[in-house]
Amino acid sequence: MKNEEKKEITIEKMVSFCKRRGFVFPSSEIYGGFAAVYDYGPMGVELKNNLERMWWKDMVQRREDVVGLDSAIFMHPTTWEASGHIDGFDDPQIDCRDCKTRMRADHMVEAFGINADKMTADEINKQIEKLEKEDKKLKCINCQSENLTPAKNFSLMVKSNLGSPTDKLSEENVVYLRPETCGGIYLNYKNVMDTGRVKLPFGIAQTGKAFRNEIIARQFIFRTREFEQMEMQYFLNPKEMDKKYEEWKETRWNWYLEYGIKEENIRWYKHEKLSHYAAQAYDIEYNFEALGGFKELEGIHQRGDWDLSQHSKFSGQKLEYRDPITEETFIPHIMETSAGLNRMVFAFLHDAYTEEDVDGETRVVLKLDKRIAPVKVAIFPLQKNKEELVEKAREIYKELSSHYMCEFDESGSIGKRYRRQDEIGTPYCITIDFETVEKDDSVTVRDRDTMKQERVKVKDLKQFFSQNL
Ligand code: GAP
Repeated sequence: MKNEEKKEITIEKMVSFCKRRGFVFPSSEIYGGFAAVYDYGPMGVELKNNLERMWWKDMVQRREDVVGLDSAIFMHPTTWEASGHIDGFDDPQIDCRDCKTRMRADHMVEAFGINADKMTADEINKQIEKLEKEDKKLKCINCQSENLTPAKNFSLMVKSNLGSPTDKLSEENVVYLRPETCGGIYLNYKNVMDTGRVKLPFGIAQTGKAFRNEIIARQFIFRTREFEQMEMQYFLNPKEMDKKYEEWKETRWNWYLEYGIKEENIRWYKHEKLSHYAAQAYDIEYNFEALGGFKELEGIHQRGDWDLSQHSKFSGQKLEYRDPITEETFIPHIMETSAGLNRMVFAFLHDAYTEEDVDGETRVVLKLDKRIAPVKVAIFPLQKNKEELVEKAREIYKELSSHYMCEFDESGSIGKRYRRQDEIGTPYCITIDFETVEKDDSVTVRDRDTMKQERVKVKDLKQFFSQNL
């Protein structure tokens, strides 16, 4: 008897599950860890790669109007002056004078029901004054002390040196690790245009690492200092903006549903306070129960002509577009879809994680869409000391693993092996038993979600999986 029950998901449960099953490990753990940085284990890297592959397939491969790019992480430092990141890419911080914990000032005032989205340190200090007049005091999240500094701005840019004559970080040859992947897209807009294969409206997409000196908030892989983004910048005539913006909002919303996210777990958040260049900004938020509720997963923003105008101004290069039909000349406007791959991994794990009561025992099962499951088929010989079973199982593994990510497992009872595969979300398990080798050349194929088993001829396995995976 199966009794489907979604139990409470806590951050401790997710962290320990992800470590135990090889999804996510804390970075540099043998040295005591490294704050807000994580590594992806054997299952995590498969899940992350699958999500990235599906995104690329839907955002680039299947679209006539989007092309791909892979630009370098290091870029000319003027890029970040032009984009406004050097002067204005800050988070407001408050430090505890007693235990030295550094905290996000906006999050601290938000705990009092204030919307501090995009507030500067000065604006937050005004809010703190108001709260104090009502006898409401901010407290350190670590030691509860009220001995706190005022809010001040803290740059999120990660700085380094290239080709510096000294080993020490100097002001010479400063480079920044990109804080978002889209910068490389703007700088290559002209190169892509000059290939002659695109015309407005069109998009350039890229995935890759980004770095931000985030104030640590203990949010697991939701907010880290090194992370991956999947961004698409769509260049268009401003007259088309509203129509295209609505189309892209719909496309991105449906993408999450297509890969199995439950609709009740996502919602739109409209930014009321916008960056000076933005005309509209919406986020798709996911209900990260382990983090206390809905939080940003992906941003869909209208950026106007800010990016190309700024890079044109700072580089002296013309980045205008001349419409071949109307002969109108203008700087293309941009709308972007900007998703975080690591947050996506977290959201998909969160959504798929299920605890069921099966005959009085708890079965943990990751109900991931088959396309993103890390392992597609697990292959078990019934007994590990029976050579004929192991040999047959290896033969099947060899055949199927050239098409799908497979796992060969011969240790423990079949029940335990099923449970392990359920926990990592493997859609199918195959068991090779004595009937397989002595009688009918058939194997038992077991379905993760229904737990139903059926006999399939070995010769039909390829067809079975091409229909079901
Ligand atoms: N180009 C626009 C841009 O970068 P953003 O809202 O700062 O916008 C986009 O970031 C997405 O990148 C977020 O929705 C989130 O999924 C991801 N992201 C941002 N900062 C992150 C961090 N510190 N750790 C993990 N993911 C992050």
